[in-house]
Amino acid sequence: STYMKGVRHLCESGITKVPRKYILPVSERPQLIMKKERTSTCLNLKLPIIDLARLHTSDRSQVLESLAEACKVYGFFQVVNHNISCNAMRRMIDVGRRFFKLPFEERVKHMSTDIRSPVRYGTSFNQTKDGVFCWRDFLKLYCHPLDTVIPFWPSSPSDLREEVTSYAMQAKSLFLALMEAILETLGVNTSILREFDDDGSHLLVVNCYPACPEPHLTLGMPPHSDYGFLTLLLQDDVEGLQVQCEGEWVTVEPVPNSLVVNIGDHFEMVPSKSLLAQIFSNGMYKSVLHRVLVNSSTSRMSVASLHSLPPDKMVSPSPELVNKKNPRLYKDTNFAAFLDYMSSCDTKHKNFLESRK
Ligand code: SIN
Ligand code: FE2
Repeated sequence: STYMKGVRHLCESGITKVPRKYILPVSERPQLIMKKERTSTCLNLKLPIIDLARLHTSDRSQVLESLAEACKVYGFFQVVNHNISCNAMRRMIDVGRRFFKLPFEERVKHMSTDIRSPVRYGTSFNQTKDGVFCWRDFLKLYCHPLDTVIPFWPSSPSDLREEVTSYAMQAKSLFLALMEAILETLGVNTSILREFDDDGSHLLVVNCYPACPEPHLTLGMPPHSDYGFLTLLLQDDVEGLQVQCEGEWVTVEPVPNSLVVNIGDHFEMVPSKSLLAQIFSNGMYKSVLHRVLVNSSTSRMSVASLHSLPPDKMVSPSPELVNKKNPRLYKDTNFAAFLDYMSSCDTKHKNFLESRK
């Protein structure tokens, strides 16, 4: 159908109304509140900002404490001084933007509904299953093992492989540094880090949310949580990401040169010794629901970098953390099981986690 061609294609045809395929039931529509009407306390979320340069100073334990607090309270935080160069971030966004501006015939070469394909251009969330489509086109690139997958990536724009390689390598290093710090806050043995080194799953998702004539009727991405351990999100300066916080949807304000980081489903599956001592959110770091709003004036770009264990490696709770007092809360799983789950139903990631209980 025409909708399979994506929202950018649809916008290029000059529509002035949102087609029925994208209109959400009233109860699922976003409530759009103008920036100036929002009060800073409730509807705009200033996510905790973690300065990673301070991890290597005498402030380390303080930084770890704020990190633990952010993971516990929000499941989200922002990082600055993260060692991904401003240049690499700018160029990643820029090459993504140029990819989506390519003629449709060029983009469509990469269209696939096979979620195991190392390169996949598509639209909505799960375009073969979604009843209501979302206002989003995407390019998903597998980044593991990096040398093997690069030849599958688009060769146009001509610098895409080079820019994505550079960004992906820096994102991976940042992921490892964050993993180490977060495992430390949980009191978990960091030997698991080795598993992520070369074969850990790494997926880069370039999202394009074109301007939408009726943004109150649709969403760029429906509420979902992320698979994996951590997601590092690079966004341009257009806001759109909303995070669920105390039952409310709150907008995350983009902070220049920062990255948004969130806890994925796999982290939620790791029971925490240090936190179970407190009667807080079942003692877990939460994989929190988030969604994306679109707007009528500006197109938005984001690049999500999702990290987890190698595809066949089972994710199980650390044995040292499971005992009579802290029983295991989830069944073991792996990336392959997640892919099977995703291709077989139209429900959201959140239910994958539920299915492991
Ligand atoms: C995502 O949830 O993966 C993307 C979020 C965004 O585009 O801000
Ligand atoms: Fe997400």
